[in-house]
Amino acid sequence: MDIQSIGIVGAGQMGNGIAHVMALAGYDVLMTDISQDALDAAVALISRNLDRQVSREKISQSDKDAAMARIKTTPTLADLGPCDLIVEAATERETIKQKIFDDLLPHLAPHTILTSNTSSISITRLASRTDRPERFMGFHFMNPVPVMQLVELIRGIATDGPTYDACLKVVEKLGKTAASAEDFPAFIVNRILMPMINEAVYTLYEGVGSVKSIDESMKLGANHPMGPLELADFIGLDTCLAIMNVLHDGLADTKYRPCPLLTKYVEAGWLGRKTQRGFYDYRGEVPVPTR
Ligand code: CAA
Repeated sequence: MDIQSIGIVGAGQMGNGIAHVMALAGYDVLMTDISQDALDAAVALISRNLDRQVSREKISQSDKDAAMARIKTTPTLADLGPCDLIVEAATERETIKQKIFDDLLPHLAPHTILTSNTSSISITRLASRTDRPERFMGFHFMNPVPVMQLVELIRGIATDGPTYDACLKVVEKLGKTAASAEDFPAFIVNRILMPMINEAVYTLYEGVGSVKSIDESMKLGANHPMGPLELADFIGLDTCLAIMNVLHDGLADTKYRPCPLLTKYVEAGWLGRKTQRGFYDYRGEVPVPTR
């Protein structure tokens, strides 16, 4: 199956990055969100991120112009129905994703492949509640999408071969690398990454180190590009907590117990960069540790 048009649900951090790379690779993109403001902000951000690539001579000005011309937005979810491939990139909460799929189903073309950018929720369960579990997959991008090379492709128990192959072709056209993951909680990257981030929060919680010393240790001592707490702020502390809960519930092992300090930050609404406060305070010129 030849995919040409991509529908993207959600114009947040992941949705706008996915729209960016899909349009740059030549796909027609239709992005939807419940808020027109979010859609306008996403298009402006894509334009700025493409400018960044133009100024670093990764792409030409005409590549940017062509990509921007391929991106359309709509506040109406049903408009995505005829797209060849839909990538759901809404908030990491199963009830929200479920409602989106329920609302989309009556409008979908028979051939449409449905995918979710979920970072941890069961693909098999999401698929089972649709009319097309064989044409349903996990299509998991990493943040920042234009920079990160990996895409995890997750087959649900019913996903058929042609659906997997069609998604693999899309990943290849994006110039990215696919990792095939089985459908178990948090797949590969987050199964490994989130317990590390959670352990960094425990290290802070137990007073073993400060925000600064923990991040510096992992940057300088393990060559990580970002410290684990800085990375948690970048991903979003609500997303980190949601993934830890999926691991804890899904694998029923206390080693995945979310750190109470992570829960406290989320309860405070200190969700990281997106709310300007998390393990660092981003409201000034330079980020300042909050502990
Ligand atoms: N769009 C386009 N280009 C971007 C960009 C964006 N949004 N963000 C950064 N870039 C580009 C920059 O222009 C720069 O390009 P050049 O190499 O051509 O100079 C390059 O990326 C590096 O950016 P910077 O120089 O600004 O900053 P940096 O060197 O500190 O790198 C980083 C930034 C790439 C984010 C790096 O810190 C990093 O790799 N961090 C770790 C990110 C990570 O682990 N992501 C995975 C999170 S887990 C996940 O996403 C899964 C999940 O489900 C939660």
